[in-house]
Amino acid sequence: MINCRICNTNIEQFMSFGKMPIANGFLTSDQIQNEYFFELAPAFCSNCGMFQLIEQPDPQKMFHENYAFFSSTSSYMQIHFKNFAEFVMKGFLENRQDPFVVELGSNDGIMLHNFKKAGFRHLGIEPSVNVANVARSEGIETLSEFFNLELADQIVERHGQADSVLCANVICHIPDLNSIAKGIKCLLKTDGVLIFEEPYLGDMVMKTSYDQIYDEHVFIFSATSVSRAFANHGLELIDVFPQKTHGGSMRYILTPIGTRSVSHNVGELMQKEQKQGLHKIETYDQFRQKCETSRKNLKELLENLKQKGQRVVGYGATSKSTTVNNYCGIGPEHVEFISDTTPVKQGKLTPGMHIPVKPYELFTNNPPDYALLFAWNHATEIFAKEKSFKAGGGKWITFVPQVKVIE
Ligand code: TYD
Repeated sequence: MINCRICNTNIEQFMSFGKMPIANGFLTSDQIQNEYFFELAPAFCSNCGMFQLIEQPDPQKMFHENYAFFSSTSSYMQIHFKNFAEFVMKGFLENRQDPFVVELGSNDGIMLHNFKKAGFRHLGIEPSVNVANVARSEGIETLSEFFNLELADQIVERHGQADSVLCANVICHIPDLNSIAKGIKCLLKTDGVLIFEEPYLGDMVMKTSYDQIYDEHVFIFSATSVSRAFANHGLELIDVFPQKTHGGSMRYILTPIGTRSVSHNVGELMQKEQKQGLHKIETYDQFRQKCETSRKNLKELLENLKQKGQRVVGYGATSKSTTVNNYCGIGPEHVEFISDTTPVKQGKLTPGMHIPVKPYELFTNNPPDYALLFAWNHATEIFAKEKSFKAGGGKWITFVPQVKVIE
């Protein structure tokens, strides 16, 4: 028995994905000996509704000077963050006197550069120095530190309180959510707004996209769990907007309690979550069974193709693929290499299963029989880009929501 990270109630894991390495821990062959593993096991708290990991590696093991995740690798994500910035500027910052925007986990500046361009006072907080340096080189103000109450105090002292605190795919990474919420409350003006978006629990359960579960995602949020967790710190969920990113995300808008009216969207989404059974432990037992079926089907398909001598190459060395490969036992004997456009991943091996990651050109120059779509969240962008692969007889393998070959 362990205690819920939010409300301290006793909770139990409902499944285990087994021993897992760091999802973005791409490595060289001489680093294999010291590779770090932990048990990836999720639990659900039926008291506060929070879906969470039992164990999470030390943050310094995940976010450091060699962090391999650069947000700007997808053109769709660049457009998404431009739209996100406009949504904030138009909806929440118009008519404000010299507004100040803070982004937690600002990565390579994919969102903040839009605020910089529009002349807004801004500050990014990004502990991974290599990605933060990319943002700095473009003139985006960035601090390389982990956000907490102390840092919030220092920011307020130096810049004043923020009109808006923004985060994308960050809050769910931070195990001490209660302390982050305290820090945000202190950083925000009394009429300020917190806006964040994260992979959405409802989508993950509906699509059996269990690959959202990996070391960085210590929580997978729903409107119900977000509303309860932040209410404890004086912040109220006032609106929600579903997003297509990361295979199904939710944008949450929160303000100091009682400062703005609550949109009907919030109540409607919470009712939908009840209908979907997101509050019931049985739902997660069914989810576990669906994960097991998905694993069996994917492994069988790949074994079959191997026996037939078909070439299979992975597409996109995503963080998510670390869970899939390690949970299903997929290695270089099944997948020849994974093609990825991120330079720091190329020439490395994937965490745990050690599949080589190679430049995209190797995929286009010598197309395989099958491409296993690990970056399924970018399917629209990728299918549009890879028409010639399909036209040349190449087939796609997807595994969300079901294992399927696209002929
Ligand atoms: P991402 O969608 O951020 O997933 P995760 O959060 O699970 O890491 O990662 C996409 C990965 O796929 C990234 O390494 C870049 C790569 N990629 C390509 O190689 N080609 C493409 O066309 C796209 C869109 C992504």
